[in-house]
Amino acid sequence: MSHVFYRHTKADYPIAVKGDGVFIVDREGDRYLDASGGAAVSCLGHSDPDVIAAIKTQVDNLSFAHTGFFTSAPAEELADLLIGLAPDGLDKVYFVSGGSEAMEAALKLARQYHLENGQPERNRFIARRQSYHGNTLGALAVGGNALRRRPFEPLLSDVTHISPCYAYRGRRDDESPEQYGLRVADELETAIQDLGPDTVCAFIAEPVVGATLGAVPAVPGYFKRIRDICDRHGILLILDEVMCGMGRTGTLFACEQDGVSPDILITAKGLGAGYQPIGAMLVSRRIFEAVRDGSGFFQHGHTYMGHPTACAAALAVQKAIQGRGLLEQVRIRGNQLEEALTERLGNHRHVGDLRGRGLFRGIEIVHDRTEKSSFDPSHGLAGRIKTEALKRRMICYPMSGTIDGKQGDHVLLAPPFIVGENDVHEIVDRVAGAIDAAIDQVTP
Ligand SMILES: Cc1ncc(COP(=O)(O)O)c(C=O)c1O
Repeated sequence: MSHVFYRHTKADYPIAVKGDGVFIVDREGDRYLDASGGAAVSCLGHSDPDVIAAIKTQVDNLSFAHTGFFTSAPAEELADLLIGLAPDGLDKVYFVSGGSEAMEAALKLARQYHLENGQPERNRFIARRQSYHGNTLGALAVGGNALRRRPFEPLLSDVTHISPCYAYRGRRDDESPEQYGLRVADELETAIQDLGPDTVCAFIAEPVVGATLGAVPAVPGYFKRIRDICDRHGILLILDEVMCGMGRTGTLFACEQDGVSPDILITAKGLGAGYQPIGAMLVSRRIFEAVRDGSGFFQHGHTYMGHPTACAAALAVQKAIQGRGLLEQVRIRGNQLEEALTERLGNHRHVGDLRGRGLFRGIEIVHDRTEKSSFDPSHGLAGRIKTEALKRRMICYPMSGTIDGKQGDHVLLAPPFIVGENDVHEIVDRVAGAIDAAIDQVTP
């Protein structure tokens, strides 16, 4: 009887003992093809020798030094590397231990920025429904994942949520994608006017919505309009690239493809690729200077922020991505994955939409393609797909509640950037098999 408090109390998990490229091996010797990098984490697979060596070297030299007293070489080098490649205007990096911590830091920094500028009335956040920004209370409050919010609603601060940019379900037949994008972006303007423009602190969004919607990018023009609206009202734009960032979509930062720079960008997951827990908040020079020239310090901090071993791991990961041409690889394998999914599932009677960018792909399951109706949520279709995929020795990331937190199911794929051509075919074969087997169980 285990004393570990598992994510699911009744689950019986295999014991993972070894990483081998795109595979995780369990104690029985079964090899699991990791088609989602866990939750879009393991972008270099599970046994990268350079990253492992970098961690060992760092631990041999210095495993930890508190950031209240010291900085460290890997933190400095990693920050230089990230800022050298970051969207225009981003100039400083604040290292934390994961995505939720990065979001908490972003929310507090946005608030402090307005205080430094003498605008204490700016305390309202606007975000989007069907988004996820983390599980700590601040991050959960700005998140729009109805399923994850529900039990904790009474604890969450009051945040305004507008529509996501989710063309498959939101775009009207008489609209072009661009017209649709402008219409939903303009919901931000309406929300700002409702709240009072001088009370709004920041707007938060995932450039490509990850787990909640299943790899949904915005339509062209959407984020440019969002950027304009934020600028017009002096509101900060916080982009959450925890899942979609660090090369996952084929560019190092997902927002590069939307042609915008945020005031604050957060990242995690692929930053350290799972070799160490690490997240980061990238901040514009303007915000940093407001703090530097104002109160002088950011009223925040965690014991493990800027952890040298985590930074050393992330530095090795990011050097690998740059040095081995892995962004190009994401684009090539991403196109291949898109083609193979389209060939296999494009005409499937229960697949409503295939979407995503690079090696970040979503498959939305529907009961009826014309009506875009979903399977009865009581069937727990996503859970069944996960089980069927595991039976086929594959890890993918299915989720329910795609439409509104209750209805709808999708499968998220986010394989490591080192995935090979044959692996891509294997992934499509196994995911299609898992979807079919799960649907068979719930259709008479
Ligand atoms: C977009 C996004 N933001 C934030 C988080 C929270 O990150 P973490 O689980 O590292 O706290 C996640 C995690 O899935 C995420 O996908």
